Amino acid sequence: MWRDEALCYNQSVKFVIGNWKMNPSSFAEAKRIITVVKKNIGKHPHARLRGQAKVVICPPALFLASLVELTKNTAIAVGGQDSYLSDEGAHTGETSPSALRRLGAACVILGHSERRAIGESDTVIAQKVASAVRNRLRVVLCVGERVRDDAGAYFTEVKRELRASLEKFPRSEIKRLVVAYEPVWAIGAKAIRAAKPEDFREMSVFIRRNLVDCFGKKSGLVIPILYGGSADERNAEGFLREGGADGFLVGRASLDPQKFSAIIRVAESARY
Ligand code: PGA
Repeated sequence: MWRDEALCYNQSVKFVIGNWKMNPSSFAEAKRIITVVKKNIGKHPHARLRGQAKVVICPPALFLASLVELTKNTAIAVGGQDSYLSDEGAHTGETSPSALRRLGAACVILGHSERRAIGESDTVIAQKVASAVRNRLRVVLCVGERVRDDAGAYFTEVKRELRASLEKFPRSEIKRLVVAYEPVWAIGAKAIRAAKPEDFREMSVFIRRNLVDCFGKKSGLVIPILYGGSADERNAEGFLREGGADGFLVGRASLDPQKFSAIIRVAESARY
């Protein structure tokens, strides 16, 4: 299981991470989705290449423990959608990174734009990142501009988010870092327009340059950079092939087991 392996990133391996957000509203539906994905994954013609795609489902915290059970001995790992900046203690309503790890979570999403939108600052995100890594979780750090202006100020916004959130990230733990570029304008049902593979490519080069600046060439070059923002079974291939994405952070499409399985299939058969 990849949560226990050496964590070394191999560029040919793609990540497909489903962010269920606050869905579904019943455990019965969560179980149905996971059951269909499990079944579909087994049928993939590329199933023998297992390991070409690292598949993670990040359900609401309420369903985490049950999903860990339901996915035992499968190619699907389970992750958190957020974790707190302290390991444990008196923090009403928060999720402990140390409990997440002990439960068997493979990773945790941090800095998602929907959390930034309710006031989560770069400083808080940096502390959450540090505490997740201390607890040996892989961090899926989300960055992305709210709007794309003609003057290119969006580069400054992404740079600030990236640098500030990673301020406390130890270079020795670089294998625990995944960056997800999620332009806010392309996320969700209210997206202004779909991002294009070239939008992703342009920004991922910029992100990569910043990662190399922060962590040095050897480490900066191997950090996976995923695309998130209305990723689905129709646009996945373009983002991998033309965009050079190392995988996806998928919202809505991850709640449809057929669509999610189709994205996994695209990632498993990718040769770029
Ligand atoms: P979406 O969400 O795929 O529904 O746009 C992506 C995300 O917010 O992670």
